[in-house]
Amino acid sequence: MSTPGAATPDAASIKPAKGKLGIMTVGMGAVCTTLIAGVEAVRKGIAKPIGSLTQMGTIRLGKRTEGKTPLIRDFVPLAKLDDIVFAGWDIFGGNLYDAAKTAEVLDKETLEKIRPYLESIEPMPAAFDQHYVKRLTGTRIKSGKNKRDLAEQLRKDIQEFKKKTDRQVVTWTGSTEIFLSPTAVHQTLAAFEKGMENDDPGIAPSQLYAWAALTEGIPFINGAPNLTVDIPAMNELSRKMNAPICGRDFKTGQTMIKSVLAPAFKARMLGVSGWFSTNILGNRDGEVLDDPESFKTKEESKLGVLEYILQPKLYPDLYGKIHHKVRINYYPPRGDNKEGWDNIDIFGWLGYPMQIKVDFLCRDSILAAPIVLDLVLFLDLAKRAGMRGIQEWLSFYFKSPMCAPELYPEHDLFIQAMKLKNTLRWMMGEDLITHLGQEYYD
Ligand SMILES: NC(=O)c1ccc[n+]([C@@H]2O[C@H](COP(=O)([O-])OP(=O)(O)OC[C@H]3O[C@@H](n4cnc5c(N)ncnc54)[C@H](O)[C@@H]3O)[C@@H](O)[C@H]2O)c1
Repeated sequence: MSTPGAATPDAASIKPAKGKLGIMTVGMGAVCTTLIAGVEAVRKGIAKPIGSLTQMGTIRLGKRTEGKTPLIRDFVPLAKLDDIVFAGWDIFGGNLYDAAKTAEVLDKETLEKIRPYLESIEPMPAAFDQHYVKRLTGTRIKSGKNKRDLAEQLRKDIQEFKKKTDRQVVTWTGSTEIFLSPTAVHQTLAAFEKGMENDDPGIAPSQLYAWAALTEGIPFINGAPNLTVDIPAMNELSRKMNAPICGRDFKTGQTMIKSVLAPAFKARMLGVSGWFSTNILGNRDGEVLDDPESFKTKEESKLGVLEYILQPKLYPDLYGKIHHKVRINYYPPRGDNKEGWDNIDIFGWLGYPMQIKVDFLCRDSILAAPIVLDLVLFLDLAKRAGMRGIQEWLSFYFKSPMCAPELYPEHDLFIQAMKLKNTLRWMMGEDLITHLGQEYYD
């Protein structure tokens, strides 16, 4: 079934993806180097962009009988991989070939084939404060008289990059910062800007980058569970500068599977009494998350998914007494090859118990890199389509999706996928797909 979309914007009003798209990544560690090396490998025809919806996905248009399923990248005007230029910041020096070797995600053979390209990119010095990421000690850090001064220096970096590229997107692929709750300084743009001048402790480095990007009218993605842009002040700035925002925390391994399984239990009215999730992980992200304050940020992000999908208040008999535990253990021998175990205690007819075990031997950054690519391309599209503020249609990619304050976030992966594709249809003036399908049986 397809229905006309309300308030469909005119596809012709979306500005074309002409010229170079500059991607600036804050944090050039495992995820970032896997993204950049991957994009270059795809450009050179060495590998395929597996896991990327923008590169491999199709979209159905019209009725099932019409057989119209173009590639998404042929349907919406996205930037081409050949037009992407990368830059970024990190607290460590050295070029991206060295950073990719340290990350130990991609094999030597692949890295050698794109070595000159990776060697040509070096991170710019970072705005960093160890108070917010306890386990890291930076070597290339900006200094300034206050947080505002640091943010202005980041703006200058962005302004330089603007001279070399036609459009830009900034994404946080940096470490997970300590847990912060919103305070008065986060409520309005004026309070936030004053807070930067007063070095307010509620303002983390990630927020300086976000402020700098949005002030320059550039869309911002938050790939970590940090508060960053999930505050009214950033929403205000995003709307004021017509620079869309989205976050938080890329949904890659365990939580992606959780957001597939939990909706299945709920759809069949099966109860859940417990869900125990644990991980072993040995990369730098794992080391940072070994600090209890950074782990708390990640834990909050990982815990929300079940609460919102299962709705225990609506179904107290099924989900009212669920025990949900999430653990992350830093275990160096595994490097980036995370292992995530889930033990799920469910119950069925008359309350009879059953168990499901999931053992996901995943590769963290291999799952994350295509997500970052999709987000960057979609956020650039959103900007050209005149969208601003929170981009809830990109919830598909996040563990803890941002949404309007009066809403609850949508976590179900398939609802998120439908929402994303319907948004693309809506942007292009196509009928939305509801899956009703009565017209086939008239
Ligand atoms: N890999 C995944 O599957 C996945 C999934 C969801 C979220 N994430 C999040 O993505 C982020 C990146 O993960 P990763 O595996 O690449 O970690 P990583 O440790 O390899 O890379 C993070 C980089 O950020 C840098 N950094 C920290 N603070 C910075 C600052 N203020 N300015 C500039 N650089 C800074 C660090 O030096 C490091 O090089 C983490 O927050 C992680 O939790 C990763």
